[in-house]
Amino acid sequence: MAYNVLTLVGSLRKESFSLKIANTLAKLAPSSLKLEVVTPAGISFFNQDLEANPPADWVAFREKVQKSNGVIFVTPEYNRSIPGALKNAIDVASRPYGKSSFIGRPVGIISNSPGPLGGVSAAKHLQNILPGIAGPIMQQPETYLNAVGDAFDPSGDCSKETLKTVLQQYLNAFAAHVEQYSK
Ligand SMILES: Cc1cc2nc3c(=O)[nH]c(=O)nc-3n(C[C@H](O)[C@H](O)[C@H](O)COP(=O)(O)O)c2cc1C
Repeated sequence: MAYNVLTLVGSLRKESFSLKIANTLAKLAPSSLKLEVVTPAGISFFNQDLEANPPADWVAFREKVQKSNGVIFVTPEYNRSIPGALKNAIDVASRPYGKSSFIGRPVGIISNSPGPLGGVSAAKHLQNILPGIAGPIMQQPETYLNAVGDAFDPSGDCSKETLKTVLQQYLNAFAAHVEQYSK
């Protein structure tokens, strides 16, 4: 049996490096993991007034998270934090209060940037956001991918062998993390 892993991309951009990293992860996944890549596109703004009668897009996203056995966040950094679209998706799935869809699901965090710092501040913000609303966050290997701007060919495939190796190592660790915390 393979564990279903939602791979939640922090960017809405068509040519997003985060999306390309998530797609590469899906291709490299070991047989014990099945990765579904999802972006925050189409998730409407969270508004507490709508909680009693939630919009269909919130319900669909929450169900996707609930059906997963684990979640890997693949996020860029916007102004030293996570993009608003990703925060909104997290807020949507975290409600109703006490019934977060992420609860119990082992979590992984991969940040990235074409710049030198690998989006580490975004990853650190996720580590602040998630503990109250999600399952155990994998601590190692810490994975902040820098200089991702030249890592993909025009068709979106990863052309940087060192990056593929890092992603493979991450997946192996995450497979063990999901196995450890799945009931
Ligand atoms: C609003 C905005 C803020 C950004 N802030 C940062 C930042 O704080 N750190 C960083 O490394 N890159 C920053 N960038 C550059 C992004 O890393 C770059 O645009 C990246 O390609 C976005 O991720 P994506 O390719 O997955 O869409 C920012 C980009 C935008 C549009």
